[in-house]
Amino acid sequence: MSIKRIAINTGGGDAPGLNAVIRAATLAAINRGWECYGLRDGFNGIFFSERYEDGGAVRLTRDRVRGIGHLGGTILGTTNRGNPLKFPLRMPDGSVREIDRSGEIVEYFAKKQIDALISIGGDGSLTIAHALAKQGLTVVGVPKTIDNDLDKTFTTFGFDTAVAFATECLDRLHTTAESHQRLMVVEMMGRYAGWIALHSGIAGGAHAILLPEIPFDLDKVAEKIRQRDEYGRSYSLVVVAEGARVTDGQRAVMAPAEAGQAERLGGIGEQVARALSKKTGKEARTVVLGHLVRGGTPTSFDRLAAMRFGAAAVRALEQGKSGVMVSLAHPDVQYVPLEQVAGRMKAVPLDCDTLATGRDMGVCFGD
Ligand code: F6P
Repeated sequence: MSIKRIAINTGGGDAPGLNAVIRAATLAAINRGWECYGLRDGFNGIFFSERYEDGGAVRLTRDRVRGIGHLGGTILGTTNRGNPLKFPLRMPDGSVREIDRSGEIVEYFAKKQIDALISIGGDGSLTIAHALAKQGLTVVGVPKTIDNDLDKTFTTFGFDTAVAFATECLDRLHTTAESHQRLMVVEMMGRYAGWIALHSGIAGGAHAILLPEIPFDLDKVAEKIRQRDEYGRSYSLVVVAEGARVTDGQRAVMAPAEAGQAERLGGIGEQVARALSKKTGKEARTVVLGHLVRGGTPTSFDRLAAMRFGAAAVRALEQGKSGVMVSLAHPDVQYVPLEQVAGRMKAVPLDCDTLATGRDMGVCFGD
């Protein structure tokens, strides 16, 4: 099939680098004589087109993507709600039914004579992309998440920026913690995988790092803090991933899952701070980085990774590929089938050398 018109959408949580993907894919498409459109807010530009002045899809031109490569967020908007495969439909009696609206997306592309979709997103969005490809839509996925928890790619864009910012926060917290001989507990994103906590914790000199992958025993962390006291280091930094939990305990949930949206995690940091303060008798304070790690301008690594992804997605379409995700491999970007990625999560391997590095340097992981 010769391509004349493509669409791009961004789904799930935002991540620094999204606009770099949009810019590179748009320019690569335009330089092949294709038209390029951006769908608004995931697939809401299709489901609620009447809500948008531009009908839910914006023509992406050279001018429209000029100067966006270094901007955080996404010019198209995104959403964490309303999975087209399980679209929440509120019934007259107030109950919510989940219906599959993916067929409407395929029909939309046919009606608008758009030949292919480049879908930029995390595990949820790529699962949707896989389902659309199975229905015959030409789709190429681009892996996006600050969590770095997508399988079959060395890393996702957004992760490096999140780690760089979290590390800078830890650098700052050392000085105030030391000045007050305090425990500083830093809670950070990483829904079910602790990559951000692990990488920034080691880079930022944390003394304990608590990950979702390793249910922790706070007595072990308290012992580490006492050891530091004994050799005269009277403060400690404890990094906690939002999805971490005590051994055989539950994750700290801020808001339960509701129709079309995952549970919202949060609160583990304060729980850990209070418990450690009791166990050690030291003052403790909690810092929750929250969405700060998702904002701001992408690092050069993330910009380049994102641009490589965007251009590679267009080349994949030109080569007639569909149902694949662009993947960061060495030395070049590769394509992996979406079925190998959809619905899977890349946790921190317990035998990885990064964890071993932390242990060798004396970092406590609560186990
Ligand atoms: O998946 C990326 C992520 O940033 C998670 O780390 C975090 O738990 C979640 O999104 C937050 O989602 P929201 O922006 O909907 O609160």
